[in-house]
Amino acid sequence: MTKSEKLSALKTMNLACCECALRSGCKGVVFGEGNIESPVMFVGEGPGQTEDELGKPFVGRAGELLNKMLKEAGFLRQDVYVTNIVKCRPPGNRTPVQAEMETCLPWLRKQFSILKPRYMVLMGLAATHGILDKDIRMNQCRGKWFQRGDIMMMPVYHPAAVLRNPAWRETCIADFRLVKQVCEDAAGGAEEPQEKRG
Ligand code: URA
Repeated sequence: MTKSEKLSALKTMNLACCECALRSGCKGVVFGEGNIESPVMFVGEGPGQTEDELGKPFVGRAGELLNKMLKEAGFLRQDVYVTNIVKCRPPGNRTPVQAEMETCLPWLRKQFSILKPRYMVLMGLAATHGILDKDIRMNQCRGKWFQRGDIMMMPVYHPAAVLRNPAWRETCIADFRLVKQVCEDAAGGAEEPQEKRG
């Protein structure tokens, strides 16, 4: 099977998932989309209302801002892969709880093992807590690389948080630029970024 066939088989299974209570409160599962050859995967929190209606990640207001910030950092939205830590919209857009993230994580892990991106951008605290470290604070980790197995991860502000705090926009774009830079360096054969602690 090709990568694309494996991913679409996984998507079919994911769309039928009823593993947690979130599925009964939303319209559908939002699997993720984008360039399956991208070295970088952007992971958000969970679908909002517009995403739930359209079945696509980051297509509402936060998504529009994400696209703009990606562009300013030199990425095109269609060149990267975008998904969420939970695939179903939490009621009223509340933050997913730890148990919901843990139940949904196997889908992200499977997406990840098919797509094999080199870098993962964790947008916001939910993705950061669910994937990297459940006790870390955003101001400790934002804009830094963390190595987990073969993958380098960088937590960044969530675009919805940037909508609420426009002063964070330039910081978020600067973090995206760091990611863009390592993608370009890696494509040119340069060394990988090193994890910075502290
Ligand atoms: N916020 C998220 O975390 N994900 C989306 O898909 C949309 C908004």
